[in-house]
Amino acid sequence: MAKNLKIGLFGFGCVGQGLYHVLNNSKGFKAEFVKIAVKNKTKQRPLDKGVFTFDKYEILDNPEIDVIVELIDDAEEAFNIVSYALSKGKHVVTANKKMVAQHLRELFDLQHKNNVSLLYEASSCGSIPIIRTLEEYFDNEQIEKVTGIFNGTTNYILTKTISEKLSYQEALKQAQEKGFAESDPTNDVEGFDPKFKAIIIALHAFGVFAKPEDVLNIGITTLHPNDINYADEKGYKIKLVPTIKRVSKDHVSIFVLPKYVDSHNHLFSVDNEFNGAIVGGEFSGEQFLKGKGAGGHPTGAAVLSDISALSYGYKYEYKKQTQNPNLQFTNDVFVKVYFRYNRLIDLEKLNFEEITERYSGSNYNYVVGYVALENIISNKDYILKNNLFVALVGEEIAQSISELKAEKKSLAQSR
Ligand SMILES: NC(=O)c1ccc[n+]([C@@H]2O[C@H](COP(=O)([O-])OP(=O)(O)OC[C@H]3O[C@@H](n4cnc5c(N)ncnc54)[C@H](OP(=O)(O)O)[C@@H]3O)[C@@H](O)[C@H]2O)c1
Repeated sequence: MAKNLKIGLFGFGCVGQGLYHVLNNSKGFKAEFVKIAVKNKTKQRPLDKGVFTFDKYEILDNPEIDVIVELIDDAEEAFNIVSYALSKGKHVVTANKKMVAQHLRELFDLQHKNNVSLLYEASSCGSIPIIRTLEEYFDNEQIEKVTGIFNGTTNYILTKTISEKLSYQEALKQAQEKGFAESDPTNDVEGFDPKFKAIIIALHAFGVFAKPEDVLNIGITTLHPNDINYADEKGYKIKLVPTIKRVSKDHVSIFVLPKYVDSHNHLFSVDNEFNGAIVGGEFSGEQFLKGKGAGGHPTGAAVLSDISALSYGYKYEYKKQTQNPNLQFTNDVFVKVYFRYNRLIDLEKLNFEEITERYSGSNYNYVVGYVALENIISNKDYILKNNLFVALVGEEIAQSISELKAEKKSLAQSR
C-alpha cells in the first residue's frame, strides 16, 4: 500500500473531528482526507463544503481512495458501508463496537475472503491499545482472563455516587452535561456498550466468537443507596465490570455485571471517565492498562494508530482462533454475588447454592453467596423490573462450586 494514504471518511462528529485534528497535528504520518461523508444537509461544517458528500458511493467507489474510515453513529448503516468496502477490496478502520460485535463472524470472514484488513482498536476502551496488545504482545501466550472498566459513562456515574454521594439521577445528569453520557444513555447504563467491547476482546484474547444475545449484561440502573452503604462498610467501590475468563480447558465465560472491588484490585483506582483493562497471562501474570476510554481526541488517536498500521500492511492475525480451536463460550458457571432483594420469592428465584453472608432489615435485605450464572440470566428481566441489585463480589468464577471454593483459597493465599 502507498505510504501517503488517501482516506475516505464517514462521519464528522465527535470522533471524526477528533481524528481530523489528531492527524493534522501528527509529526510523522501524512495522509489526506479525499472526501468526508455526513448525513445532515443543513448542518454548519468547520471545513470547506467541497470536501463533504452525502452520497456514500462517491467514497466507496472512488478508486483513488486507499482506506475507508467509518465513524458514524448508526450501526446498521455502518455495517452496510464496511461490508461493501471490504467486498470491494478496500481496507477499513472503524470505531463502531456495536457494529463489530454484532457482525464479528461475517467481518472476520470478509477479511479473509477479500484479503483485506479491518482494524477497530478504537472500538474497545478508546485510547487503550488493548486489541493490538492481545494480538501482538500476547500472540503466543495463553490468556487466562481479561477484565476491566470498558465504559467511561458508568464509571463516572459510579465514582460520583460513591465518592460524592450524588444520587444516581444527579450523577447521570452531570455525566450528560459534561458530554460523557449521551441523551439516551441506555447502551451505557444497561451494560450493552461494555458487552460489545467484551465480545470483541474475547475474539482476540481467546479466539472465541460470542453473540451479543447470548452474553449477559446487567448494568447499574437499579443501584440504590443501600448498595452503596454495603460498599462503604466493606471498603469496596462499585464498578461495572465485563469479565472474560477461561473457566476450563475448553470454555470461556463472558458477562457484564456490576462488581464490588476491593483496594487490592487495579480497578479500585480507576475513577471518573477513565477506563482500565486487566490482562491475565498464563506466565506473565497480570498486566494493567489505564487510559481515556472515550472523547474525540483519545478515540481519534486510536483511529490514527490503526490508519498508520495499515500503511505498513498490518492485519489482525487472530492467532488465538487457530491456537484454541476447541475453546467455546459458556454461561455454565458459578459466581459469587451480592444480591439485594425485597421478598423471599426474589431470593428463591436465584436459587443460591450457598449463602455466606445475610442481612435482613426493615426496608431491604441482602445476601452474599454462590449462584449459577444461568439463574441470573433467566431472571434478568425480573431483577430489573423489581429494582433488585446484583453485583459480583470478589474474583471467583468457576464451573463448579468446589472449584469456586478452591479458587477463593488460592486467591487468598496469593495476597
Ligand atoms: N464519542 C466517543 O467518545 C466514542 C468512543 C469510542 C467509539 N466511538 C464510536 O465512534 C462512532 C462515532 O461516534 P461519535 O461520538 O463521533 O458520533 P457523533 O458525534 O454522533 O457523530 C456521528 C457522525 O456520523 C454522521 N452520520 C450518521 N449517519 C450517517 C450516514 N448514514 N452517512 C454518513 N454520515 C453519517 C453524522 O453526520 P452529521 O454530521 O450530518 O450529523 C455525524 O457526523 C460510533 O460508532 C461510536 O460508538 C465513539
